[in-house]
Amino acid sequence: MYSKEATQQLQKQTLALLKGKEKPAVKNIEELRNVLRFHEHRYYILNEPLVSDFEYDTLYKELEKLEAENPKIITPDSPTQRVAKGLTKEFPTVQHLVPMLSLDNSYNSDDLIDFDRKAREATGLKIIEYCVEPKFDGGSLSLIYENDMLVRGATRGNGVEGDDVTSNIKQIRSLPLSAKFSDYGIQQIEVRGEVLINKKNFAKYNEQLVEQGLAPLANPRNAASGTMRIKDPAEVRKRNLEAFIYNISDYTLLPKKKTPDELQTHSGSLQMLWDLGFRSPQKEMKICKGIEAVIKFCAEYEVKRDDLGYEIDGMVIKINDIELQEKLGMTSHHPRWAIAFKFKARQATSKLLNVEFQVGRTGSITPVAKIQPVGIGGVTVSSISLFNEDVIREKDLKIGDSVLVERAGDVIPYIVKSLAELRTGKETKIAFPKNCPVCKSKLFKEEGEAAWRCINIECPAQVVERIIHFVSKDAMDIRGFGEANIRKFYELGFLKDIPGIYKLNFKKIGEMEGFGERSIEKLQEAIEKSKTQPLHRLIFGLGIRFVGETTAKTLAHEVNHLLELTKFSAEDLTNLEDIGPKVAGSVHHFFSTKQNVDMLKELESMGLQLKNPRKDHASGGNLEGLTFLFTGSLPTLKRSDAEAMVEDNGGKLVTGVSAKLSYLVVGDDAGSKLEKAKKINTVKIISEAEFLKIIGK
Ligand code: IVH
Repeated sequence: MYSKEATQQLQKQTLALLKGKEKPAVKNIEELRNVLRFHEHRYYILNEPLVSDFEYDTLYKELEKLEAENPKIITPDSPTQRVAKGLTKEFPTVQHLVPMLSLDNSYNSDDLIDFDRKAREATGLKIIEYCVEPKFDGGSLSLIYENDMLVRGATRGNGVEGDDVTSNIKQIRSLPLSAKFSDYGIQQIEVRGEVLINKKNFAKYNEQLVEQGLAPLANPRNAASGTMRIKDPAEVRKRNLEAFIYNISDYTLLPKKKTPDELQTHSGSLQMLWDLGFRSPQKEMKICKGIEAVIKFCAEYEVKRDDLGYEIDGMVIKINDIELQEKLGMTSHHPRWAIAFKFKARQATSKLLNVEFQVGRTGSITPVAKIQPVGIGGVTVSSISLFNEDVIREKDLKIGDSVLVERAGDVIPYIVKSLAELRTGKETKIAFPKNCPVCKSKLFKEEGEAAWRCINIECPAQVVERIIHFVSKDAMDIRGFGEANIRKFYELGFLKDIPGIYKLNFKKIGEMEGFGERSIEKLQEAIEKSKTQPLHRLIFGLGIRFVGETTAKTLAHEVNHLLELTKFSAEDLTNLEDIGPKVAGSVHHFFSTKQNVDMLKELESMGLQLKNPRKDHASGGNLEGLTFLFTGSLPTLKRSDAEAMVEDNGGKLVTGVSAKLSYLVVGDDAGSKLEKAKKINTVKIISEAEFLKIIGK
């Protein structure tokens, strides 16, 4: 898509723009857009970004600002136009230009040999050239580009008609909003592909659902196709969908143009799509001459399956020559020129022996199915989370049931369904406990939540889980302090709570079997080192409900000392970036609970870092103790320069309007932040000129 020269040129432009040497002027706003498109391609298609997220955001905001000043210059394919405002009311039904057929399936080499024989007989050829590519396991998608612009995106639906999901499709940043099809003489084109959610994002998303007491999604395929039908495009954006485009189903040429050479073969069309900025399986596919080569490639890929970032459930074998494809045509269900080769199933049947109930860090009770051990895809599965009571009811599970179990790659195994037709009548109902299985206190369920909870914060199970979370890699990162040891120390009474980590009696531990001098020394060092972890890691480590790493950073950024959070009302907290009422309520509850505050004081007395070191760093400036926020476009200063002035003078930047904000500096077109600030009488609202005066300039 971008030659080496173009890449170097665009990167040069990027750096110049970032340095502000060439402050993007309206006349070259298209240059700024091109620079942003280039970086989107580097990030979302090549996976090789050339700038940091922060640098990309800086340029993106600059574009937003320029477009806000002059809305007439906005083009529909501007990078800012992915973001849709408001909710989608409904997805209108639309007709595909060409029906979306499915593929015939094959499961072994004999099936493939058979497919090849039929194709050779029908074409009279001795050997056929195939293009073989992964069969992506997501939701299928059909896009129309007209005069180089994306005009419509639709789901498969019943194959003839689908749902118009254009505003959701635009949230997929690996799909270009415009592409130069006209360079190939094409006026209108319909392309097909698959929407995916990668394994990592899927796991992350499910963790959030579970944390919120909701049932997780069964697999990445359901997650991807389900996301396409969400009515809030902003929510769709958050799920980070990806898409592969693998087929051209229809096109119309511009007047006097003839079919480009690229479209004579399937591999050529993948190349064309790639060159136009699409993520086609250009790097994944292989051209195979004859069916033996196809069989070999499929086998090789099946081995690689688990190493991929996304799910595939087989390979698709397509005759490469488009003329031959047309000659063979279709049945009413599937093309005769292509076939899917399905990998070995990742499903197996087993028996549900028992259900155990585990208590999580935040007190949620998770039912865990114990099944007769069964091997799936090389791994023995014997224990499967059922997440919550609703899942048990929805799947109509009973002890003694035969169950269908699936395990897809690194995705955690799950029970697809119970096989009710195999019941003998001896199966028994699963009784959900009324009391905590560990501390026996009564369980509660909040309205609108699926999880039952033990609300005794001293419940031993929760305490142990909290300690495990506190020392974990993304929190305080105390290496060498594994789960098993934490449990052991807790049972032996060596460790009672989080502060206990810093009071461990190493002499006693040394007397235990299995603890050598060296391993104790190492543990001691790791614990000592954790005392200097930055504040946001400590906040995350506290395991406050709904507070993930991002929220922890927002909170850390807001204070000079962690205990300042005890002064924030729930409403103050909702004024911070990305903090909604639920998170705010939970944070407020945590910091107004005496035991928690006492614990934090104790941690500080033992040398942990509760201060925000940025504050110390900036001390001495005349803005000491003051907080600033900028909104709207400033008449003379660049936002980043103004922000640097604040920090250089010992002031602090905050991300949202709250009672903690000292000054809101207002430029042109200030929006909701100004409105919010007007309602809080302690916030001083000033102009750029007044700001410069305060700074002393
Ligand atoms: S080609 C006319 N290629 O598999 C044939 N399909 O069971 C068009 N799929 O509905 C399909 N990866 O959603 C093709 N590389 C690939 C694919 C692929 C996944 C899906 C597609 C289709 C289903 C067929």
